[in-house]
Order: sequence, then structure tokens, then C-alpha cells
Amino acid sequence: MRKSAQNGILKSMMRQPVCTSTIETSPCAENTLNPIRKLVDQLVINPNPEKSLLKLSIGDPSVFGNFDPPPQVLKAVSDNLATSCYGYVPAHGLVSTREAIAKYYNTRTSPLTSEDVYVTSGCSDALRIAMECLGSEKRNILLPKPGFSLYQTIAGNRGIPVKFYDLDPEKDWSIDLDQLESLIDENTAAILVTNPSNPCGSAFSVQHQLDILAVAERHGLPLIADEIYQNMVFEGESKSFGELSENVPVLSCGGLAKRWLVPGWRVGWLIAHDRHNRLSKVRDGLTRLCQVIIGANVLVQGAIPQILETVPQSFYDDTLNRLKNAADIVYSELKDCPQIRPFKPKGAMYMMVQIKIDQFEDIKDDMEFVEKLITEQSVFPLPANIFGIPNYVRLVLTVPEDILREACKRIVEFCEHHKVGVPHKKPRAETS
Ligand SMILES: Cc1ncc(COP(=O)(O)O)c(C=O)c1O
Repeated sequence: MRKSAQNGILKSMMRQPVCTSTIETSPCAENTLNPIRKLVDQLVINPNPEKSLLKLSIGDPSVFGNFDPPPQVLKAVSDNLATSCYGYVPAHGLVSTREAIAKYYNTRTSPLTSEDVYVTSGCSDALRIAMECLGSEKRNILLPKPGFSLYQTIAGNRGIPVKFYDLDPEKDWSIDLDQLESLIDENTAAILVTNPSNPCGSAFSVQHQLDILAVAERHGLPLIADEIYQNMVFEGESKSFGELSENVPVLSCGGLAKRWLVPGWRVGWLIAHDRHNRLSKVRDGLTRLCQVIIGANVLVQGAIPQILETVPQSFYDDTLNRLKNAADIVYSELKDCPQIRPFKPKGAMYMMVQIKIDQFEDIKDDMEFVEKLITEQSVFPLPANIFGIPNYVRLVLTVPEDILREACKRIVEFCEHHKVGVPHKKPRAETS
């Protein structure tokens, strides 16, 4: 470079001060909050170095290697690798995949075709398109409390107002239907239900499902049914809302993550159970919303027909037996501890445990319970504050049996140590 040109560049660099101000973010980014992240970031996590850390907090069944997907699932993807296209496919999914999902979930009462199915990037994405399609800044959605925190993340991102209806722990976490109905107003767009439930580990009775549908029907509202744990019920009947509904349109959200144990593969689906053809506009909206990210992973969605056809019933039964066994172990280990109250799950992969705060000498809430439990016993459940209910913790049941037993032993020891009447050397301020 010539010297004069070099000088010119140097001079112009000297003239312009370097901009150091922070780049602003959009309201959309600011309002997108994952309550789990927010609360976990606030938690003081200092495990006891003398005890191995036992994490009962992560709802990912693949973490410990004891809940692996069945070989048929792996084979389906490897077979598909040889034939899968590399390109874009229809944004709402391959026809063959949509056909297979429709066939799998087809029932006499709810006949389905490929036109009713939208393949998505996990159940999360199905929930996103359902909520975005029905809700808006002026149209609210009713959510369960306690409930899976992603619903709030999606609503916050899109500025959709939400109202919470209560699940009653004393009635198997069923919905307080009077309260639900009282929350509905002329701007309500949909009722979102989760069945079986994360975080409660509950499963509604068929009668309760019918009662929920009756409320929706009285107000002409559609349901968004988060059914990612569909068929993961330990005993008794397991029906989807779509199957039970006679008149209420249902957007059922599901996916491969939990029943097929591959949460990281990120493929799910939305099934529109469209009673009386009320969803024609919604279907257009769903298709358009799928086009935002041009569809789900083609390699995995292409394997779905083979997955649904080849995984034997014995695999599903075995998973459920092992989850139920884990639930029985935790329940029997914790049930006699006077300071806490475990709630026996009926499905999914979780157990809620109530912390009887007035039975503790020096613990004021579930957050402090968890912080101290980690600091002293290296056991990490999730404070259920994250799910909207105070003074409960959620335990994950996909943890290996020996770890579950050890965790329960430590929880009981911790409760004994902190129960009312036991004096404490450490003031509360040291750990909170
Ligand atoms: C109730 C519920 N819905 C949806 C999801 C998200 O599923 P996916 O991993 O398929 O996005 C989860 C994951 O834990 C969940 O518990």
C-alpha cells in the first residue's frame, strides 16, 4: 500500500472515536424468559464436596444412560440415512411422516389424515405454533398452575397475555373447573392443558377430561393439549383429548422426546382434531407458522414411519414399569418423613413433594430448602416455584434406582436435621 493511502486510513481511524455503547435488544428478546433458567440462575449451588452431587432436577431421560431409546428407533434413523433426501421438504412435514402419525393416532371417534398433522421441531415447537396461532396481544390463553414453564416463555415472546387456573394437589392435581370457567372472558383464545403432567406426575381421569371439554364447549373454545406424555400412564385408562372430544377442536402437541426417549432429536408434531370443521383458518395459520423455520429435521422425521411401526409394545410397557417402580421406591422412602409429603404419581416422569415449611426450624421456602439440601447433602431437586407453586419440589424419576434411594436417604436425614426444635449453628444468612 502506498504511504499516502496508509496515512489516509490512519487519519480517518484517529478521527472516528470507537463506539463502545452496548447494542440494544428488542422487547421480543427481553420478554422471552425461561422461568427455569431465571430461578436456577438465582439459586446458590454449592454442593457438599464430601458427597457426590445427585441431580434429580433434569427432565431429560437420556442423562443417566438407564433410559435409552429402543434399538428399533436407532435402526429406523440409520436405515433412513441411506435413503433420506438432503434437501428441504414441506415445512409442515413429509407426507409419509404425516400419514404415519395420522395412522398411529387415528381412532374411531377421531379419524385423522395426513392433512391433520404438522411435523415440528419437538413438542416445544408444536406448542409454539399452537399458541402463536390462537393467541395474540389481545387474546389470552389459560395455563395450568403448576405448569410447564415453556408456556410462559412462548407467551412472553409473543406478548400473549396468560391467566392461570389451579391444579388441586388434594384432588390428584385435577383442575378447579369453577375457577377455570371464571377466568374465561370474551378475549380468551384457548385453554391449554397438560396431560399427563409435568411437573405433577398426574393423569386426569377420563371423566375429568370430559368435564374439561364441557367447559371448553360451553364457551366455544379450542383446547391446546400438551400430550407429550400421552400413553405414559401407570395404571388405568389413558385417552387423548382429541379422542374424547365430540365438539371441541383440539390441537394436540406431542413428539418423540419422552415416549421414545430421544429428546435431543427435536422432532414432534401437532395434530388438529377438528370437530365440525372449525379450524379451517387455524390450519392455514399453522401451515404458515411452520414455514418460519422450514420444518423439522428431515433425517429424523423421515424415520418416524418405521419407528411407529417397529417399536414393540414390550418397550413401552417396560419403560412404564420402570418409571412406576422408581415412583414406588421414592414414595415409600419419603412417605414417613413428617416434614415432607410425597404425592404418588400416576404417569409421566416426575414426582411432586410438598415441603411442610412450618415443620422446619430454619427454612423459609422451597428455594431455601433446595439451596441447603444442595449445600449439605448434594441433592438437587427443582424448587416447584419454577412451575408456579410454592413450597414443593419436583423430583425426576428417570434417575437410576441406587441414586434415587441414596437421594431419598439424604433428604430424610436433611429434614431430620432441620426439623422444628433442632437448634442450628449456622444462621440462615450464610447459605441464602
Ligand atoms: C409438558 C412438556 N411439554 C413439552 C415438553 C417439550 O418437549 P420437546 O423436548 O419435544 O420439545 C416437555 C419437556 O420436558 C414437557 O415436559
